[in-house]
Amino acid sequence: MADAQARDGGRGVIVTGAGSGIGLAVTERLRRDGDRVLAVDLHPEAAGRDVLAADLTTREGNRAAVDTALEEFGRVDAIIANAGFQHVAPIRDFDPDAWDSLLAILLTSPFLLAKYGWDALAAAPDGGRFIAVASAHALTASPFKSAYVSAKHGVLGLVRTITLEGAESGVTSAALCPAYVRTPLVEKQISDQARAHGMSEDEVVARVMLERQAVKRLIEPDEVADAVAFLLTPAGRAFTGAALPMDQGWTAR
Ligand SMILES: NC(=O)c1ccc[n+]([C@@H]2O[C@H](COP(=O)([O-])OP(=O)(O)OC[C@H]3O[C@@H](n4cnc5c(N)ncnc54)[C@H](O)[C@@H]3O)[C@@H](O)[C@H]2O)c1
Repeated sequence: MADAQARDGGRGVIVTGAGSGIGLAVTERLRRDGDRVLAVDLHPEAAGRDVLAADLTTREGNRAAVDTALEEFGRVDAIIANAGFQHVAPIRDFDPDAWDSLLAILLTSPFLLAKYGWDALAAAPDGGRFIAVASAHALTASPFKSAYVSAKHGVLGLVRTITLEGAESGVTSAALCPAYVRTPLVEKQISDQARAHGMSEDEVVARVMLERQAVKRLIEPDEVADAVAFLLTPAGRAFTGAALPMDQGWTAR
């Protein structure tokens, strides 16, 4: 990999949802490692930096992400599908528009990125990588998160399919499945969950969010960035097809 980077000026990587939280931490980490990163987000102004503005719930947005990376870097070695949001409500009250938007960003966007980026990943000198920042909710469910849980389970199916279809051309894929990470997405959930459960915000953190984790600690975004960086190393290649729990013992029960 070092040879290929020296030859071509560094890997070209797309990171979605790069304006905040995990995506921002991944972008900063990979840039420190010498990768050329196309950071993509709906809200580039939030990051105040070099971010491509694109709505990844649309086909055009995902196409623009891949086309821009190819224009800027001439190659796409890795795609980190990370953009997302959350909507918390019981199924009987769940807004169908929120369901459509969540499926679009958490499941259809990763599919479109893999589809539009496929030829570039297959041409990557050291093997293309497709990493989904999934969730512990790809492996287990919680009440009031029907769309999120369904989409995250779905993206695991996509990762496994990429693994099978990509094997011959050297494309590998893995899903990282973190429990609660200290980001704006989680901070917003605390208030939403408090409303849905009829509890105070402190009770929600202690009794709902971290209740099923053996270790009662929020994960830091940098820890997720470290795991993504590892999956992009040569040693990460053999994890293709894997769903990697990073969940403080949540799914160990
Ligand atoms: N925070 C957690 O506890 C946690 C745990 C497990 C998995 N995840 C997953 O990690 C990913 C990142 O979450 P985060 O916690 O960093 O959230 P975040 O809210 O801090 O960042 C998400 C980013 O995605 C962007 N985004 C949302 N909709 C978009 C769209 N239509 N087009 C382009 N960009 C869009 C937002 O603008 C935002 O900058 C999500 O897929 C989330 O499901 C988060």
